[in-house]
Amino acid sequence: MQLKFIKLSFLVLFSFTLQFSFPIKAQEIYDQQIEAILSKMTLEEKVGQFVQIVGVDDYNEELIRMGKAGSVLFGNDGPEEVNRIQQIAVEESRLGIPLIFATDVIHGCQTIFPIPLAEASSWNPELVKIASGIASFEAASQGIRWTFAPMVDIARDPRWGRIMEGFGEDPYLSSIFASVKVKGFQGEDLTDKTQIAACSKHYVAYGSAEGGRDYNSVDISERTLREVYLPPFHSAVKNNVASIMSAFNDLNGVPASANYFTLTEILRKEWNWDGVVVSDWNSVGELLNHGFAKNKEEAAFLGFTAGVNIDMVGDTIVGNVYSPNLKNLVEQGKIPLEKIDYAVRNVLKMKFKLGLFENPYVDIKFFEQNDLKKNYKDSIALQLAKESIVLLKNENNILPLNKNIKSIALIGPLADNQEDLLASWAAFGKEENVTTILQGLKNISGDDTDINYAKGCNINDEDTSGYEDAVEIAKLCDVVILIVGEDREMSGEAASKTNLDLPKVQEELIKRIYSTGKPVVVVLMNGRPLTINWISENIPAVVEAWFLGDQAGNAVAEVLFGDYNPSGKLPVSFPRSTGQIPIYYYQKSTGRQYNEEDKFTSKYLDSPNSPLYPFGYGLSYTSFNYKNIRVDRTKIYKTDSLTVSIDVTNTGKFKGEEVVQLYIQDEVASVTRPVKQLKGFQKINLKPGETITVNFNITHDMLSFLGKELTEIVEPGKFNVMIGGNSVHLSITSFEVIE
Ligand code: NOJ
Repeated sequence: MQLKFIKLSFLVLFSFTLQFSFPIKAQEIYDQQIEAILSKMTLEEKVGQFVQIVGVDDYNEELIRMGKAGSVLFGNDGPEEVNRIQQIAVEESRLGIPLIFATDVIHGCQTIFPIPLAEASSWNPELVKIASGIASFEAASQGIRWTFAPMVDIARDPRWGRIMEGFGEDPYLSSIFASVKVKGFQGEDLTDKTQIAACSKHYVAYGSAEGGRDYNSVDISERTLREVYLPPFHSAVKNNVASIMSAFNDLNGVPASANYFTLTEILRKEWNWDGVVVSDWNSVGELLNHGFAKNKEEAAFLGFTAGVNIDMVGDTIVGNVYSPNLKNLVEQGKIPLEKIDYAVRNVLKMKFKLGLFENPYVDIKFFEQNDLKKNYKDSIALQLAKESIVLLKNENNILPLNKNIKSIALIGPLADNQEDLLASWAAFGKEENVTTILQGLKNISGDDTDINYAKGCNINDEDTSGYEDAVEIAKLCDVVILIVGEDREMSGEAASKTNLDLPKVQEELIKRIYSTGKPVVVVLMNGRPLTINWISENIPAVVEAWFLGDQAGNAVAEVLFGDYNPSGKLPVSFPRSTGQIPIYYYQKSTGRQYNEEDKFTSKYLDSPNSPLYPFGYGLSYTSFNYKNIRVDRTKIYKTDSLTVSIDVTNTGKFKGEEVVQLYIQDEVASVTRPVKQLKGFQKINLKPGETITVNFNITHDMLSFLGKELTEIVEPGKFNVMIGGNSVHLSITSFEVIE
């Protein structure tokens, strides 16, 4: 009966919106529907919408039947199973409210793309948007309509293993990728059965965990919170992200999952956002561990009233925080019913927006008949993988390799490896779909090239028995390609490290191979910046390939043989040592700027300040020259804009892409400002000898900062504008803002 009512009214809604295509009106009708359902719900059913169960067993099926569960995590047993469980919710529960099925679709669902840190290295947001759209389609075909991505935590500490899940150290770059990921997952219209709801996480400042130790406390100023950690979340919100996940960490003494200031003051009041807040895995329950709540009832009170709507792991023994405590808290008068209703509305709205009331089931036939072509998906995965690769060093142009080279020694534990190249959070990815580096090289090398493979050693143990073979084949070949790095468990969640060197067994292998005197190329596969001083000093060619997913082998081979000219740029600084951490380009100048000659300036006795490889850095097989930086006006009023231009010439022999980066510095301000901040970039393609004039429009918002009162202001004075191919080597000009 209830179900019929819902379905019928949706037909009315549908024809109405089609006829008038008037979204505001549609929203009003959603609201009417929501109110109609809300008025029929018992308190227990309302709380049920806040309970996210993990997997489905007999016990959970009963919860669903009783209307005591609203969403399912890891419901990834295929679309038939999703439909079976959904049927229990829709047909056997009293009100027939559909469930949402959620899974972490982070860098692809079935087709696995490069990890997010690598995606950011492509500096190609449009391509990342397309890849996210593919991931969305694949997830939806399995019945997954909600992903816990994008992870938009700024990370300036590579000891933190989760650095691989985000877009690096910079708020601007991360904000751009946050927006395209949300758009790619959610599309134009979430009711489209091929789109999924996104979730920006982990709100907030989780990436600033002290010492880079996962789950650790965060203590930062409100200025740093607002200038560095919040912008990517705000960008997701501006792009209508459907949900946000509250983090594990405590922030300035208040756990993020009970933080009224960030969850309500900022998210709801300042940003006026009406999506769903879901806790991270039992993070409301963990308020007890934080010593912030004395029991689960208090945890439920604190988490819920701060603004967490859904309790992830709401069913298990560890979880079970919102249910049953919220009901008691309302009955005791501690939580007003209006607050419960507000949160129920948010959850129901998300279900309406996903079209779940109208189409609760996966349309299996539709997905079978309209499946995306494998060739298409693979070609996007390959393009993104190629663009994610960063060439760190290429002495004497040892790369690209000549296709007629007689013999290659391919050595290393990641050279013929499929599993690790999937990396952490590979959703439904399968290792058999990964092209190994060995296979990739075979696919495109010339017929007369011999590729001799030796593993050399494992990724991380003490067995050196493979060294001898590796050295032997190295001696016999014209060039050695060493594929080294981390395994997939060494980065991601709960994978913090104090030592960022390559595992010893691999370092030693590299040294042994190097001592043969053969030309050596090192290709790194890893989820974080590593400390690679020896490699960087001694090995003539070094390639950062991160974890590239299914197309890793083909992408690396195309780069090594020059079929693709590398264009990736680092979204994160590479430290020389862990002692330099945190290290990032966005520094303040300090009262004692670094001066080599002067001991009493801000520096180390035993290390330069500079990173080994800076933010924005990456080489090409060609070279680019930047000339004639100029502004079209040297003085502007605060609200005016101006154009800065530069001529970029391809001065080498290959066609190539270059990421032209724009940085701005407010030279003197009422609050100290970073020496430079990324404010724009363009990826351009140039033939040898070609020159392109690149223009950037500099607008008011690019000059503003948070003043003493933490509100946006633009102050008069001199601004430096810098443009170049990385954050260090920049052409500079300036202009003045006048009152
Ligand atoms: C815990 C992780 O912190 C979070 O990122 C993830 O989305 C959830 N587990 C669900 O898998």
